Amino acid sequence: MLSKPSQSSSKSAVSKSSSDEEVSACSKGSFSLTIFCSEHIGNNFYINVLLNLEDIYFFKLVCWRVFMHTKISSVGVYSPDRILSNKDLEKILDTDDNWITKRTGIKRRRIGRKDETNQTMAAEAAKNAIANYVGKFSPIEYIIVATNTSEKNFPNSAMYVQKKLREFNDDCVLSNAGGHDTSAGCAGINVALQEADALVRSEMYDNVLVVGSDKLSFVTDYSDRGTAVLFGDGASAYVLNSIDEKDSGFLGHYSFGDGFGQNYLTCEENQDKVNIFEAFSAVEDGREPLIEKGKVLKMDGKEVYEFVISNLCELVENFKDNKKLNPLGLDFEDLNAVIPHQANLRMFKAIDRKCPGFMEKCMVTIEDYGNTSTASQGVSYREFLENAKEGDTALSVGYGSGLMFSSNLYKVC
Ligand code: COA
Repeated sequence: MLSKPSQSSSKSAVSKSSSDEEVSACSKGSFSLTIFCSEHIGNNFYINVLLNLEDIYFFKLVCWRVFMHTKISSVGVYSPDRILSNKDLEKILDTDDNWITKRTGIKRRRIGRKDETNQTMAAEAAKNAIANYVGKFSPIEYIIVATNTSEKNFPNSAMYVQKKLREFNDDCVLSNAGGHDTSAGCAGINVALQEADALVRSEMYDNVLVVGSDKLSFVTDYSDRGTAVLFGDGASAYVLNSIDEKDSGFLGHYSFGDGFGQNYLTCEENQDKVNIFEAFSAVEDGREPLIEKGKVLKMDGKEVYEFVISNLCELVENFKDNKKLNPLGLDFEDLNAVIPHQANLRMFKAIDRKCPGFMEKCMVTIEDYGNTSTASQGVSYREFLENAKEGDTALSVGYGSGLMFSSNLYKVC
């Protein structure tokens, strides 16, 4: 019964339906309309119609688009084995567990091995997301990796992940799947999810893998107590698939930045630093640590703190009217979860004082992982999706270097 209309019938029907002749025919009197077949072709929906208009028969072709949405089908996480506790940091820095806990909420973080990179962690998280997938898996067609800690400028991490996935399981990714890396500071994962959703909605791809992976220990100077206590390493990955359910999956996104804040959080080349392994070796050997040259993260913590608090509060207060993020006009109170980038627990509490109810919805994992940049929301997303029911909603929010801010609104389907 289902058939695709031929190119020629389609053309003639369209020209007839728009002609003056037909308009005048319509005014003559009664008519009947019969739908005689319908069909999905790609992401479009076609209906063929037989119109009986006072003994005149027209074959009409009616077609309209089914608007695709994007579902998170599975989430994967990778965390290095090595735990670096606040007590460990007391051995190499002039700091203490009490200060770190009180000012940040962090108790421990994971640190990658020497041979682990943002790329190896990205591939492990991607494999985990695929292993966690339930149902019939369709091969990944495109890969986006959000990262700030690439050791190489090129090739990109997306192509490394593609290769590793093909080695892992030949059927899980197209052998010619393309991809790119996204750089937007710790907001990078939210920007990457926004990009992937746009690719799916535009019907370019049905199955996209999004990964956030950062090895911040690689760019941290372990002689700087103002930054060294905050960061950890990790990766998370999201398998996204197209669905043709209205108002489901990603509902909207909202990203913005302030380029005048770009000096507040940077990663600069050829700077002095003490790497984590050297810091501990020096303590063991009872000597001063050796300084090396490399990429180093530098931050004005207070400026970043203020940027995040003011913009996150504004986002919460104006949530209902933010058409880009929240086209359905949901109330903030009705959200089931907020999944913020894990930068500082004290920051979340400060927002809660201005926006009561924020903490109640806020998913917090910072105690065990610290700030893992683009990877930090994966653990919460996985937990949220495991426990959510259809229709539940979550707001994910990222912020950081740029200064950048990016948020996504998701409805479980
Ligand atoms: N241990 C002990 N003391 C420390 C310390 C540490 N690890 N780090 C800083 N201090 C000291 C400072 O030297 C300062 O001492 P002083 O008063 O004698 O000069 C004092 O603690 C206060 O320092 P300050 O920098 O004002 O602390 P803070 O309350 O602003 O907290 C951050 C610092 C970094 C925790 C906080 O600014 C922050 O979280 N900012 C946001 C960072 C962020 O989110 N970045 C990533 C975004 S992706």
